Amino acid sequence: MPHQAPASPSLPQNDGAITRAERAIQLDLTRLGYQWGTVGSLPQVPVVKGLPGAETPTLTWWVMLAEILVTLLKNHIAVQLAALERDPTIEKAEIAVNQALASAIAAEVASVKAKITHNTSGGTIWSRLEEDAELALLALGEEGLAARFEDHSRKLCAALELGTANEADFGSAFPRSLETYRTLFQDIPTPAIAWCFQDDTEFARLRVAGPNPVLLSRVDALPAKFPLDAARYASVVAGDSLTAALAEKRLYLLDYEALSVLVPGSYDGQAKYAYCPIALFAVPPHGASLIPVAIQCGQDPDTNPIFTPSVRPDEQWGWDIAKLTVQVADGNWHELFAHLAHTHLVIEAVAVSTRRHLAELHPLWALLVPHFEGTMFINYEAATSLITEGGPIDRIFAGTIASSQQMAADARFGFDFTQRMLPNDLKARGVDSAEHLPDYPYRDDALLVWQAIHGWVKEYVALYYADDAAVTGDTELAAWAATIAGEGQVKGFGPITTRAALVDCCTMILFTASAQHAAVNFPQATIMEFAPAVTGAGWQAEPLERHGHDRQEWLSYMPPAKLALKQLEVLYLLGSLHYRPLGTYLSRDFPYPAWFTDPAVTGSEGPLVRFQAALTQVEQRIAARNAERRVAYPYLLPSQIPTSINI
Ligand SMILES: [Fe+2]
Repeated sequence: MPHQAPASPSLPQNDGAITRAERAIQLDLTRLGYQWGTVGSLPQVPVVKGLPGAETPTLTWWVMLAEILVTLLKNHIAVQLAALERDPTIEKAEIAVNQALASAIAAEVASVKAKITHNTSGGTIWSRLEEDAELALLALGEEGLAARFEDHSRKLCAALELGTANEADFGSAFPRSLETYRTLFQDIPTPAIAWCFQDDTEFARLRVAGPNPVLLSRVDALPAKFPLDAARYASVVAGDSLTAALAEKRLYLLDYEALSVLVPGSYDGQAKYAYCPIALFAVPPHGASLIPVAIQCGQDPDTNPIFTPSVRPDEQWGWDIAKLTVQVADGNWHELFAHLAHTHLVIEAVAVSTRRHLAELHPLWALLVPHFEGTMFINYEAATSLITEGGPIDRIFAGTIASSQQMAADARFGFDFTQRMLPNDLKARGVDSAEHLPDYPYRDDALLVWQAIHGWVKEYVALYYADDAAVTGDTELAAWAATIAGEGQVKGFGPITTRAALVDCCTMILFTASAQHAAVNFPQATIMEFAPAVTGAGWQAEPLERHGHDRQEWLSYMPPAKLALKQLEVLYLLGSLHYRPLGTYLSRDFPYPAWFTDPAVTGSEGPLVRFQAALTQVEQRIAARNAERRVAYPYLLPSQIPTSINI
């Protein structure tokens, strides 16, 4: 793979016979290294076979990862030391070894940073690191250093894994107080959600600004399987009626029916439970934000009662348990559908197709490839460790690992590329109107980023495609599109025959690889790291009576402390690594020069500069919105959106 994008990209139809032959040879060679394959943990999902050598992460990425892992190991040790105070019989030797490991690697991370402190070129510490050619002079060289930090990272992961061997280190199997979960945050700040997750307003806010903001749909009528009567609705939403709310497009539903294929698993002999709830929300008359109205914890109204908010002592805990079943369902939907299937695995198919069918001289190859940096690697890691038997998904989530894997694979095949384009998706879910649903941070911020990307892609495409005939005459583009739909099995990805369609298609790819992934990835650290707020499994069967529940029963739905810590560690890690923000196009090869080299792209009046300026404007608009919002929504600030899926 070349060091940078070509200085003079060309469409195949515009090349002479010799260049066309060279393109064909290059593609033949590249295809040898990028073959289609499958992995057992993701049944039949098309991915790259093995891991091509050019897909390994950069030194920068490894150092960032190691630094996060050091933080996690220090927190882990602090949790163990706190337990040691309660129980002096806990084994101390392992803790001492891990302390030494964390200190040694922390010193090395600091040392790499120290080598660049003299650099005065500005930018963030990471951009300075990338710019600093002195690193090349280090004895190990960049590749050796990257390998060293990879080794460090794997040792840190192993230390975190070993450290969870003893249940006793973390208190009882099933904590009976929220404080137990909060004490898992020792060196890591306790997230704000730990103090407000029980509030109904927060529960509603998560639908429009939480980890999974893409399921909520407006309803014109309540489904027959959710028989909430008008009187009960009116008792919950003061001054409103069911008829008026429906007519005025103010009712929204979450339906987790698709989770019914999950087969409940177990952990350490304890049964786990998956739920398929239905939850109704309303925008009250003259209101802006959703409020929760009612929850049915399963799909069958004959056995599942409908819970509504209540402060009555005999009803309050039933309502809290019902909310918890929604949060467990949402945790599964988020991780297996919205995150893994609909961003990581969709982009993998597009990335493999790009390598196989767009020559390195192709302008779209240059546009797309930076948005795939790290994706095949992180997907390979996920497929071989995260979602395998005995891995974190198996332990933390409700389903047997086989049923979770199958459900994620089915979700990947069910994803419709065209229907999921942001404007189409918002319309299809009936949530595109700010008049009917004023408070929807994900929608409003995502549209700004979508428009900025659309503007960039439109100008970029116009540089190389004079008209629609240039699109239809592009044989590599035709083969690429056919492969994404064919071997890649991406539904809704048809032939591309106009510039407008090409712009929409590439906008969708760039948006999914950057903004959409950021929206679902980074709340893992800020929200999902606190297990009582959202987790992968329930530990009691769904409640079948509205009355007679209490706080102790509510707590018993939550995971054992050991699993809550594992959840914290995995999701803090996945949700903390921000590598190369959107609009930053750098080579993946040391010393990471600018990626684009065509003056038509990079000129002072060129589209790249305008894209970067547009992102700055989006940043300012979202910052201004956040200042007005009750709770800031940071995930779609362009500075917080990585260019690619790499974690
Ligand atoms: Fe991710």
